Amino acid sequence: MLDLPRVIGHRGAAGIAPENTLAGFRAARDAGVRWVEFDVRLTADLVPVGIHDATLARVAGMSGRIARLTADRLATIDAGSWFAPHFAAERVPTLAVALAECAALGLGANVELKCCGIRSRALARRAADVVRSARGVPLLVSSFRPSLLAAFRRRAPDVPRGLLLERLRPGWRATARRLGCVTVNLGAIGLDARKIGAVRAAGFGIVVYTVNDPARAARLLAAGVDSIISDRPDALTSVFS
Ligand code: G3P
Ligand code: MG
Repeated sequence: MLDLPRVIGHRGAAGIAPENTLAGFRAARDAGVRWVEFDVRLTADLVPVGIHDATLARVAGMSGRIARLTADRLATIDAGSWFAPHFAAERVPTLAVALAECAALGLGANVELKCCGIRSRALARRAADVVRSARGVPLLVSSFRPSLLAAFRRRAPDVPRGLLLERLRPGWRATARRLGCVTVNLGAIGLDARKIGAVRAAGFGIVVYTVNDPARAARLLAAGVDSIISDRPDALTSVFS
């Protein structure tokens, strides 16, 4: 069974360092967390890279869809100074580099596969190939898209999977079971003890995003949540195990 930590850094540690960057992973580790969550999309040349949005607008202040850029071009783009000038050297990491950094830092990784239209299956396959060759990184691969998880499973059946949902909706148990998921990863809004109990009773671990308030995090953990995904892991040290 997966040894989930009580706190997982969201997009690295998005409240204290630029999201989905290696600096963010280091900030998460320095805050004391054992795992980070980060998002993955596919470049034009089919390289999985760590970025949340489909475009560079928010993290690099420029137009350009990730799906139309090569990994080499992406490696030249500053993805850190939007957050603070001293992060100007940060880049959008490839999944391989991100996992190598996790290994070096002793971090586990919740890799979230973002949907990318007709290339979803390619993303699942490419990400599976990278993830399978990662050594020494505890992994949980999650997605809002069941078809992506299914494609990922076909290529890397032994890597644990989590079904991402904003909230429980009809059929969630059957979907999570069909995909062989070990966790259900739920949005925090509207989540209560009854719903947490239902997920646990169905035999799944439960990961909740995104919680930055220590009191709310502590209540969720006391109600049976395994892991809290937070932008501010540095503020949640009181709830670490
Ligand atoms: O994996 C949990 C969370 O990251 C999902 O939402 O939009 O922050 O990727 P988002
Ligand atoms: Mg995410």
